[in-house]
Amino acid sequence: VTIDLTVEELELGGHAHFMHKEIHEQPESVERMLTGRLDDRFGTAKLGGLNLDPRELRRFTRVKILGCGSAYYVGQLGASMIEDLARIPADAEPASEFRYRNPIIEPSTLYVVVSQSGETADTLFAVREVQRKGGTVVGLVNAVGSSIAREVDGGVYLHAGPEVAVASTKALTHMSIGFALLALALGRVRDLSHADGKRIIAGLRAVPGQIAQILAGEEELALAAKELAPAPSLFFIGRVRGYPVAREGAQKFKEITYRHAEAYPTSELKHGPLALISPELPTVAVIPDDDLVERNVTAAQEIRARGGAVVAITHPGVELGDAATRRIEVPRNEVELDPILLTIPTQLLGYHAAVALGEDVDRPRNLAKSVTVE
Ligand code: G6P
Repeated sequence: VTIDLTVEELELGGHAHFMHKEIHEQPESVERMLTGRLDDRFGTAKLGGLNLDPRELRRFTRVKILGCGSAYYVGQLGASMIEDLARIPADAEPASEFRYRNPIIEPSTLYVVVSQSGETADTLFAVREVQRKGGTVVGLVNAVGSSIAREVDGGVYLHAGPEVAVASTKALTHMSIGFALLALALGRVRDLSHADGKRIIAGLRAVPGQIAQILAGEEELALAAKELAPAPSLFFIGRVRGYPVAREGAQKFKEITYRHAEAYPTSELKHGPLALISPELPTVAVIPDDDLVERNVTAAQEIRARGGAVVAITHPGVELGDAATRRIEVPRNEVELDPILLTIPTQLLGYHAAVALGEDVDRPRNLAKSVTVE
């Protein structure tokens, strides 16, 4: 028997697109990323590549995260993990803005750049701007030996493996886990207890299996995506930790479907965008089982009352009633780590909507995998 396969077909390993393959690689790639990095004895993360000993790690009073595109949205997730676990003020900013605004660089701030390719020009220039002004900058980078990886003062390799699809999926998941490890290390040289450190470690260990569980529900996600695909415009909403999930979900959706998708904090809905809700404008709502769940359900009900469809990404046990037209369940982890898992369904929503629309999923128009020019 002879089988005719192109190199591309071989590399796709039976998947229709690289994006699909990369989404499905995540349980295994995350497992690999965590190997050797969890320290059960001290309830912390082992991040030797940071080149910062505990005394140096302790000296930072702020964290500033810099990245572009999806990396910036994951940076926002990272900032909340750092605030939650280490109780250090942290925020994220697009590296593309930071580098042009004569930023104030403080020696007591830890600058963290995040990049899949390690070659994004705006992010690289942000590194140089920090260093030129005497700041400390570490990187969460996927591509080994890339320009950013070489120039930073230390870092954590993401070990997601090569990513071919322009729309990033697994690399983003690895970034958010990289932030969880960094937050754990920063927390454990401060006030995060040994027990809490171990709780986060156990949570991280559960992530690969839980991602596999979400991927097993792909059929339901494909149905929801098919319903969303014809809409010319849609909202992605989430609150606090769920807001960066919504931002990344909207980003992925517009990148590959060419549909207008706008992310909004759920809390801000009533301050404007509610006026737009109609049967023509569906919403993807991130509704985790946290202390804001009732408020989030009420907001979804308000959308339903105005005829808008709601695809809810939620946790088992959350009572949605008639607040959602479709329910996508994600297993619960620790509250600080939940956003990692809540993001996974948005990858498949974007993917299946683009497939339904017949778009070139792996090579969206006007976009490059990494933007190395200014
Ligand atoms: C480009 C890509 C985005 C990506 C961003 C940052 O704009 O189209 O998908 O998120 O660059 O890339 P990086 O390699 O730095 O993570």
